[in-house]
Amino acid sequence: MDSEIKKVLDKLEKQSALEKTKQLEIPSEDRMLAITTDTGKLLNMLLRMAGAQNVLEIGMSTGYSTIWMAEAIRKNNGKVITVEKNSKKILRAKENFVSAGLTDIIEIKHGIAKEILTEMSNKEFGNYFDLVFMDADKEECINYFDLVLPMVKKNGLIVTDNMLFPEKYRPEMQKFHEYVEKNHKVVSITVPIGNGEELTIKTEE
Ligand SMILES: C[S@@+](CC[C@H](N)C(=O)[O-])C[C@H]1O[C@@H](n2cnc3c(N)ncnc32)[C@H](O)[C@@H]1O
Repeated sequence: MDSEIKKVLDKLEKQSALEKTKQLEIPSEDRMLAITTDTGKLLNMLLRMAGAQNVLEIGMSTGYSTIWMAEAIRKNNGKVITVEKNSKKILRAKENFVSAGLTDIIEIKHGIAKEILTEMSNKEFGNYFDLVFMDADKEECINYFDLVLPMVKKNGLIVTDNMLFPEKYRPEMQKFHEYVEKNHKVVSITVPIGNGEELTIKTEE
């Protein structure tokens, strides 16, 4: 991995560890709430295996997961489109992307995910994304799934974080899992990596 990218990931992992162990008192709206390192590696590996180009992220925060994904697709002429509503986090993410040398391949869409996804679904994104990573407001996962599925390529993936942890999200995430399992166009499993990842592959258009 490029040493500048590694440096930024290391810095963000240290920040995240301070936040998770409560060694730093951070107002809730400023918390990174980042994925685990293992989840970052998993996303990176899946994208590399697929030779992926087009990625959509819902819930960027300060860009830790975005960087793991951008690193995997940067040699494929790829691009990550990422959605975030919090302008302070967007500023922090932009600094991280500059330090990692990844600004050219990351497009930030600032706003409310449901509105942005609705707008995108009316544009030229049909069967477009190799991977969609969902990591924003958990109660909207079913709505996001319905909006993004037509935008995912056949054999493309939707990855959803927090299927198992924090435990307070379990009932919501269980409902999401049951909803996805009923859809005959996908095959889906919950993988106990990091905070629990739902891997959903689109098998039919
Ligand atoms: C769990 S954090 C994302 C962490 C990030 N994926 C990472 O690993 O570094 C969730 C983010 O989603 C954003 N978010 C929550 N609801 C949203 C919405 N409706 N529209 C856009 N962004 C939203 C929050 O501001 C927060 O930064």
